[in-house]
This record gives sequence, structure tokens and C-alpha cells, in this order.
Amino acid sequence: MISPDNTSTTTTRVVVGIETSCDETSVAVLLDGTLASNVVASQIKLHEEYGGVVPELATREHLRNLSTVFLQALKEAKVQSSDIGAIAATQGPGLPNALQIGFQAAQGLSLGLGIPLFGIHHHEAHLYSPWIDENSGQAEYKAFEPHLSLIVSGGHTMLAHVTGEFEHKVIGATVDDAAGECFDKTAKLLGLPYPGGPHLERLALGGNPKAHAFPRPMLKDANDDFSFSGLKTAVRYHLRDHPETMADPSLISDVCAGIQCAIVEVLVNKAVRAARRLGVRCITASGGVTCNNHFRESLQLACKVAGLRCRVASRRLCTDNAAMVAMVAHRKISLGFTPTPLAEECKPQWQL
Ligand code: KG4
Ligand code: ZN
Repeated sequence: MISPDNTSTTTTRVVVGIETSCDETSVAVLLDGTLASNVVASQIKLHEEYGGVVPELATREHLRNLSTVFLQALKEAKVQSSDIGAIAATQGPGLPNALQIGFQAAQGLSLGLGIPLFGIHHHEAHLYSPWIDENSGQAEYKAFEPHLSLIVSGGHTMLAHVTGEFEHKVIGATVDDAAGECFDKTAKLLGLPYPGGPHLERLALGGNPKAHAFPRPMLKDANDDFSFSGLKTAVRYHLRDHPETMADPSLISDVCAGIQCAIVEVLVNKAVRAARRLGVRCITASGGVTCNNHFRESLQLACKVAGLRCRVASRRLCTDNAAMVAMVAHRKISLGFTPTPLAEECKPQWQL
């Protein structure tokens, strides 16, 4: 049980976030704005054998794991349900039934405990995650400045112009596959397990990125959109025309390095170009693909050359997690945002 504090009410002292939009069940607790726990139960092992996320299985797993993850998060933060001052959950976008599990649990807690509910946009949570300092467990709002934000995950690739806190406009997005999807689909062609991104990165380490001139889709286009399905097709044709590749680990490594290099080059170049055009001095990046070391190093370097500040979400917060959900809710509470009406439903197609 947390001790009473005269300087702030329990209404905002303990904020709990829930994330169940895809294949991670996660609950996080913020204590006076500081991350006190962030428990993530990944379903990767379960979906691996099917080569992708199976929505029905994801829903069942969220249902099975959520209460355990919730109790674990409270235990690690040394708080009880009665301490919770506000509850937040991802309201969309995401898998409809998976979202329901977390959002309905949050609605129930809001009703049962008489506390405000905050339905959080999944991409808004990713978008602000680079501002969370993993060491202090706090968001660095003092350093906040207008910036260009790149969100790259398994389902989305987008560029947003952020002019102020919670003032952002999407200026570009993928017209077909997301960058993470391209990693996963090309990795699958190479016989790697799901999700392919981390496996492809590992094999790319020993490879020559210049061995293949894979396409850099839309790199030179004047707009801020992306396209990755052509790259996937190029890899498919390459493997069809060079069947010897699959029998030779060094050839596989070259293909992996070539794919990774092509994806990262497009993401980094288009982000820097957009930032320059918009006149912002900072680029942030978040989402599962930003775990990729080549991406992180390339973006840092490109920003340095262009004289831009660079913030990439810390590794633990790149992939889906509830810490970023709780953090956005906490900031919205501090800024006086209105809670989400209890009667609202999940928004699987919610646009940023
Ligand atoms: O943000 P996230 O956990 O889930 C979505 O909201 O989609 O992102 C998952 C995606 C997957 O496509 C996965 O392959 C990719 O992030 N990913 C990576 C790496 N780690 C995760 N892609 C490239 N390199 C990595 N190291
Ligand atoms: Zn995500």
C-alpha cells in the first residue's frame, strides 16, 4: 500500500496502463509519473509456428494472461488496486478482439474503482515513447521540441510532423507493406521464424550489404510516403533465380544485409529529408523496427551529419508495451485532458 502524500491526490499518483493491441499482453504502473513496473508477456513463441499472428489465439492468450500480468505489475510497483487513480488502455488501432480484452478490463476497473478511463491511441503511445528516459523512468517533457517522428512497426510505417505535445499531423505513410512487415515477409522467404526482423538482423551481421542492388522503393519520390512490397517481390525473384542461395549461409547473409540496408536507407533518408524541409531540429523514432541496430546507428549518423538531434525509443520500449500507454495517459491527465467516456468502444481502425 502506498503512503498518503499531501502534495498530490491519489487521483493521479498511480496511473496504470494496459496494452493488448496485437501479440504482447502488457501492464505498466506509473508512480507520480515515474515508471514503477512494466510487465510484458510476449506471445511470440505461440505464433511462431504459424508464421504470423493468429488473431483468435492472440485474443485467447490476452484473456488467459492479462490478470496475471496485471497483478505482477502491481506487485512490482508495490501498489494495490485501491491505490490506482486512473486507468489507461490501448483503444486502437489493432486486432479488434485483442483490443477488447485490454480495453474492457480497463472499463471494468474504471467502473469498479470509480476512477477515470483513458483510451489511448497505439501510435500516439509509440510516437511519444522516445521521450521516456529508461534510466530515470520518466518522460523528458522539458526537452520536448517540435520534431519529425518516424513510427516503424510490424503494422505501420509513418512520418508525423509534431508541432507541440499532442499536436501532430501524419505527413506520410506506407502505401502497401509496413517496414516491419517487409522484414518479416522477406525473412519468411528465407525460411526464418516469425517475427523475422530480429533473425534477419542477426544473419545480416556477417553479410555484404552491397552484394545485391535491391530496390529502394520511393526513395527519390517527392512525397513522404513509403512502399515496401516491391522490395519483397525483388527478394522473391532473386531467390527463385538463385536457388543456390538457400544452401549457402554466406549467400543468405548477403541477402539479409542487402534487405536490411535497403529498408533502413529508405527510412532514414526520407525522415531526414522531411525534417529538413519542415525546418525541425529533431527526429524521433519508435516502433519494433527501431530495435534494429543498423537502423539506430544509421539514423544517429544521418542526424549528426544534418545537424539534427536524434531520439530513438530505448530498446525495451520499441516493441509493444504498456509503459508508453501509461505515460501518454499520465501526461494527458497533467495537461487536463478529458477522460474517455465509459460507453466508448474500441477503435480497431483509429487513424492518428
Ligand atoms: O511495434 P511492434 O512490436 O508491433 C507492432 O505494433 O507492429 O513491431 C513488431 C515488428 C515486427 O515486424 C518485427 O519483425 C520488427 O518489429 N522488429 C525488427 C527488429 N525487432 C523487431 N525489425 C528489424 N530488426 C529488428 N531487430
Ligand atoms: Zn506497436
